[in-house]
Amino acid sequence: IQASHPKSVDITAQQMIFKAELDKVETVWDRHAAMQPQCGFGETGLCCRVCWKGPCRIDPLGNGPKVGICGATADVIVARNLLRSFCVGASAHTEHARHIAHTLYELSQNNAPAYSIKDEAKLIDVAKRLKISTEDKEILDIAKEVAEVSMADFGKHHGEFAWLNAVLNPLRKEKLASLGILPHNLDSVVVNGLSRTHVGSESDPMNLLLAAARLAAADVSVMAMGTELSDVLFGTPMPSLTTANLSVLKKDAVNIALHGHNPLLCEIVCDVAATMQEEAKKLGAKEGINIVGVCCTGNEMMMRHGVPLAANYLSQELTMITGAVEAMVVDTQCIMPAVVETASHYHTQVISTMDDNKIFGATHVSFHPESAVEGAKQIVRLALEAYKRRNPDKVDIPNHVQQAMGGFSYEAITAVLKKLDNENPIKPLIDQIAGGNIQGVVLFGGCSNTKVVHDFNYVTMSRELIKRNVLVLATGCAAGALAKSGMQTSQATLDYAGDGLKAVLAALGDAAGTAGPLPPVLNMGSCVDNTRAVRLANDIAMTLGVDLDMLPVCVSAPELMSEKAQIIGTWAAVIGLPVHIGVVPHVTGSSLVTKFLTQDMEEVLGGKFIVELDPIEAANKLYGEIQKRRQKLGI
Ligand code: SF4
Ligand code: FE2
Repeated sequence: IQASHPKSVDITAQQMIFKAELDKVETVWDRHAAMQPQCGFGETGLCCRVCWKGPCRIDPLGNGPKVGICGATADVIVARNLLRSFCVGASAHTEHARHIAHTLYELSQNNAPAYSIKDEAKLIDVAKRLKISTEDKEILDIAKEVAEVSMADFGKHHGEFAWLNAVLNPLRKEKLASLGILPHNLDSVVVNGLSRTHVGSESDPMNLLLAAARLAAADVSVMAMGTELSDVLFGTPMPSLTTANLSVLKKDAVNIALHGHNPLLCEIVCDVAATMQEEAKKLGAKEGINIVGVCCTGNEMMMRHGVPLAANYLSQELTMITGAVEAMVVDTQCIMPAVVETASHYHTQVISTMDDNKIFGATHVSFHPESAVEGAKQIVRLALEAYKRRNPDKVDIPNHVQQAMGGFSYEAITAVLKKLDNENPIKPLIDQIAGGNIQGVVLFGGCSNTKVVHDFNYVTMSRELIKRNVLVLATGCAAGALAKSGMQTSQATLDYAGDGLKAVLAALGDAAGTAGPLPPVLNMGSCVDNTRAVRLANDIAMTLGVDLDMLPVCVSAPELMSEKAQIIGTWAAVIGLPVHIGVVPHVTGSSLVTKFLTQDMEEVLGGKFIVELDPIEAANKLYGEIQKRRQKLGI
């Protein structure tokens, strides 16, 4: 099976890749080509730079060194490198959640005037799950307690790990406890992981892998905190229609692209831009200010406000190649340093906003929750200034508008199910799975990666699975890819779903009051939002009285690259799910690590990694895993 284009299957991206060549602007694909061949020692995880006696590298094939200068074996080097990467991924999630929890706390102290509790019911639900009593308490007092309990989780040395308890089902918690890998807090698990990889520290590769599993359990907990507290502050997503791909940029508007991951900034920029439309029109931008999203900041806005999504990770530069982006406003994570160079060919103003995520060459507007509105105004003004410098000759916006329905939070899905069974909303879902109309569920997550034709694996695999009555959920850049490719529409259900799944989605569409069936790919949000799916899976498992390792549920990250995606994949396996990845991980230099991740892990934890680069074959393998689990359940 061949992709329709060597770089991307997003037709608007294809157009802009062509324009980039004409404009003589380098893109991520050019840099990928210039990097070939990539270092084999790095690819296999066999390069160690832990100390300054090194770098050392193990020769996996020939007669070169089999241990580093200190004596570290291939297994130790690979396991240590892996644990280090996971620590970085978990740190990114930790900082994300910490910002949100801290803002909730400041709000409860009346120190964050731009913010409010947008979803009180969710706050009360969160408080209950964190075992905080809410009776006779003012809403801001509950917010304060929820923020305090959350912040305490970061450094707690005794007592309960509140978010872990809220995320893991009791059976899984017991399992991890029996293996001695139940984490007690967030920060010290990362520090512990890093300390174990210091030169001359741990040299037992299995124990390093168990540390990685423990870290993964902490990571899933902190991700839940990030998502759920964001819902409290900004509202829990509900289904809404929007558009996705580069066509969402408008020729007659001041286009502001918001890129990164953290909803704290973009929410306020949206609010402020709404009040400054007239200023844009005065400059000649007939359609005012047009906010579009890139990457997961884009997913956050798409989920909660139906803001159009322009690009996922790999097409971020291409938004500016349209020549129509006034400001590329970035917060944190997955922002290519190259955006500054791309912007320099056009009039685009790159604006960094976080004091601990500055982008060299960008204009920095220091953004703080306490003075959020002023910061957002400054950002919008910079965009208005940039509009005056726009060169109309350089503007070329693709015209392939693609509709997409987002907003399928856990609450949104259960609200639809409640219309079918108010008492026990999870029952209709279980009935459809047991009856076979839904064979199983695959959650797509992860990034985009130049090693894979952009979006190709997502589109190919999801169509292949949907055809076989597998319901698809998606987050992060996977959700972006599947929005841009039309897989989040009623039409996609009619075009691609198997008969069983089609019937279920039609019934759910009726219940939800949408114009047609629900889409076959339910967009659950940004990459931090994967725990929405975990909550749903836990509901199913608990109703059946089994753990997640019994459910016909799999995870796939067919185009992953980031350290965050690596740790997400790991926790998915640690909580008992088969996890497909479509890129070869940097572990193949160690047969011990490779075998643990792809085989032995399943015996201990129920989940494992499946590495498969061919998307059709990958879909076959996941379908096979689903069937194995259906058999175990006796359905
Ligand atoms: Fe080499 Fe050991 Fe230092 Fe790594 S820790 S660079 S293997 S001497
Ligand atoms: Fe993301």
